[in-house]
Amino acid sequence: MSTGYLDSHCHIADAAYENETEEVIQRAKDAGVERFLIMCVTLDEARKAIEIKKMHPEVDLAVGFHPENANETTDEGLNALEELLKTGQFCVLGEIGLDYYWVSDNKEKQKELFMKQIDLANKYDLPISIHMRDATQDTYQILKEHPCHRAGIMHCYSSSYEMAVEFMKLGYYISLGGPVTFKNSVTPKEVAAKVPLDRLLTETDCPYMTPVPFRGKRNEPMYVTYTADTIAELRNISKEELKGAVMENYKRLIHQN
Ligand code: NI
Repeated sequence: MSTGYLDSHCHIADAAYENETEEVIQRAKDAGVERFLIMCVTLDEARKAIEIKKMHPEVDLAVGFHPENANETTDEGLNALEELLKTGQFCVLGEIGLDYYWVSDNKEKQKELFMKQIDLANKYDLPISIHMRDATQDTYQILKEHPCHRAGIMHCYSSSYEMAVEFMKLGYYISLGGPVTFKNSVTPKEVAAKVPLDRLLTETDCPYMTPVPFRGKRNEPMYVTYTADTIAELRNISKEELKGAVMENYKRLIHQN
């Protein structure tokens, strides 16, 4: 039996899908998507995602406070996050990290929230999913000096191949999304071609980052097929080989092997 596709980063508990979640999952399954990691960036999304998982055991759940929300995240929020982790329903903590693109006047606050969440990941023995935008050096520094024991996923990785090598040395997997399909995106294509096969993951980051030929439309997990097939093409390997390796990587990461 052939392996299905993996979406290692989808926000299908986001309001963008309202009551359409069932259809979104069904369309993805029809397109050959086998596993989903649903990212929850609010406590409400986390509660909604737990309900989705009751109906769909093939979905996995992640929860964490996004760096964009660093200013509003309180200690009570972190306590509520910890309560969610105690349920054992979440196999990844994220997405967490640093984003200096939108807001860069609160770097210390972002770093503090990032490290507190790494501590939580270590306490509950979870890998993390990293959001990193315009903050490669600071993110690397934190992951090196304040390590997450289980490492994790560099989500929608968009930095250089050279830095990808450094993150892989720390144990991280490199997850690629829609940008590998964009005609002019040179670096993601280079990374897709060069990262060792046993370190690659695929994702949509839906509702954003829609791959070609649907770029500009709302994204959803079914479109991860275009990203994965493009990566296979760039590496000159079969779709089956790529899917098989990606799924094996994912299971190794979440300890399902
Ligand atoms: Ni995301």
